[in-house]
Amino acid sequence: MTIDDLAHRIAADVAGEGGLAGLHRLSEVIAVLEDRRTAVIDELRRGRHATWEEIGRACGMTRQGATRRWSGKLRARSFGAAAGAYQQGRPGYPLALIGSAVPREARRVLDLGAGTGKLTRLLVDAGLDVVAVEPDDAMRDQLAAAVPRAAVRGGSAERIPLPDGSVDAVVVAQAWHWFDQGTAVPEIARVLAPGGTLSLIWNVRDESEPWAAELGALMHRSAKQTIDTKPVVPAPFGAPERLEIRWEHVTTRSGILDMVASRSYVITLPEAERTRLLADVEHLLDTHPDLAGHEEIAMPYVTRCTRVRL
Ligand SMILES: C[S@@+](CC[C@H](N)C(=O)[O-])C[C@H]1O[C@@H](n2cnc3c(N)ncnc32)[C@H](O)[C@@H]1O
Repeated sequence: MTIDDLAHRIAADVAGEGGLAGLHRLSEVIAVLEDRRTAVIDELRRGRHATWEEIGRACGMTRQGATRRWSGKLRARSFGAAAGAYQQGRPGYPLALIGSAVPREARRVLDLGAGTGKLTRLLVDAGLDVVAVEPDDAMRDQLAAAVPRAAVRGGSAERIPLPDGSVDAVVVAQAWHWFDQGTAVPEIARVLAPGGTLSLIWNVRDESEPWAAELGALMHRSAKQTIDTKPVVPAPFGAPERLEIRWEHVTTRSGILDMVASRSYVITLPEAERTRLLADVEHLLDTHPDLAGHEEIAMPYVTRCTRVRL
């Protein structure tokens, strides 16, 4: 049987009688196949076993088409390679955030794209009943060790492993920009109880200090990530309430290096470029008059939260 015959047979089996039920089954299978294709491309790129040109050809696409389609997806999947650095170097969140991100009446909260549990811990400490969903195995391992009282599940924003209407609030910290939002919005609405809320949160480095601006310029030398931290969330969600909290994350020299090393655009740099960038950050830490010799470094942040209600 040729691959073409096989594909037609599988498609006919899955579609069955067609109609909405057939369409639903086809969509489920296409999503799983697409996930698998991304995983194969990820393996090929991580080991530098294939160029984008070759990957494009295997997918029946141009090099540019393949890069455009998958490079963001591979960055979204990159965090596990630096899970330890993420846990050591990334800031947590200010305590005051919880009262705004989670409404007072909420009890059951989903932390979606929970990573190593930086926000999960605060939610659990606030006495909430928390389930943390995270697709990456290495990030999930860190999370389970750091926040043993949270229920930790594998899954993604596009396929949330929870029943309909099972949570009062969903929080998404530093992860909304990685989701396929067209699929994630109805999926989040599905798991929320009526009147439930969705909060989208980002920690943004405040670069008004000259050393923080220099650090930012170094980090963005090879690749700049532009994120909309005041996003518009479509229906069925309502008008946004927005909040900003200014605070300082007290860290160390190695904490700053880990924070840089755990950025997706640094993880996915070619080895030599990543080594050079980290060496340049070390040089800044060792020579800048506001940093050199300091055991503790206060990194200024603004935490932004957008909350919408179903
Ligand atoms: C920058 S980290 C944020 C982790 C954590 N929420 C925090 O605040 O530290 C982004 C996380 O989103 C996860 N992620 C990426 N794509 C995702 C998706 N489609 N659905 C759910 N999580 C996703 C990554 O694996 C990673 O752990």
